[in-house]
Amino acid sequence: MRAWLSLAAACSAGLGCFACSQGSNGDASQAGASQRGQKIYQNVCIACHNADPTQPGSLGPPLAGASQALLEAKLLRGEYPPGYTPARPGQTMPRFEYLKDHIGDLAAYLQQD
Ligand code: HEC
Repeated sequence: MRAWLSLAAACSAGLGCFACSQGSNGDASQAGASQRGQKIYQNVCIACHNADPTQPGSLGPPLAGASQALLEAKLLRGEYPPGYTPARPGQTMPRFEYLKDHIGDLAAYLQQD
């Protein structure tokens, strides 16, 4: 019984430390956004774009470095920001209005090094 109790105490102390070290990451929210963006990218975008955003995909061009303005225009309105020259001209890509709250996440993922 005594051994069991101290094991439980050690575990919860360990968990506490784990939570602390996560929280001490100064860039945590940015990392979270980029991780969410990566998930969306891998679930939705790689049907046509390359799994590696720096490479051209089967249908879509490379997306590495895509700006928030470009993502917003293309995903929500099927347009490009004023003066932007499309990497691959066309209107093949459907709109993704349901991702309107995740444009920032996608931008964070695509703009990371
Ligand atoms: C059904 C295929 C398809 C899917 C799925 C798709 N795209 Fe595209 N995308 C394209 C094609 C094709 C183009 C080239 C322009 C056109 O034909 O619409 C493109 C172009 C783009 C561009 C413009 C790039 C540039 O520099 O000109 C952006 C940004 C983009 N896609 C982002 C995304 C994101 C983010 C997702 C996932 C949420 C996504 N696309 C999912 C097919 C797709």
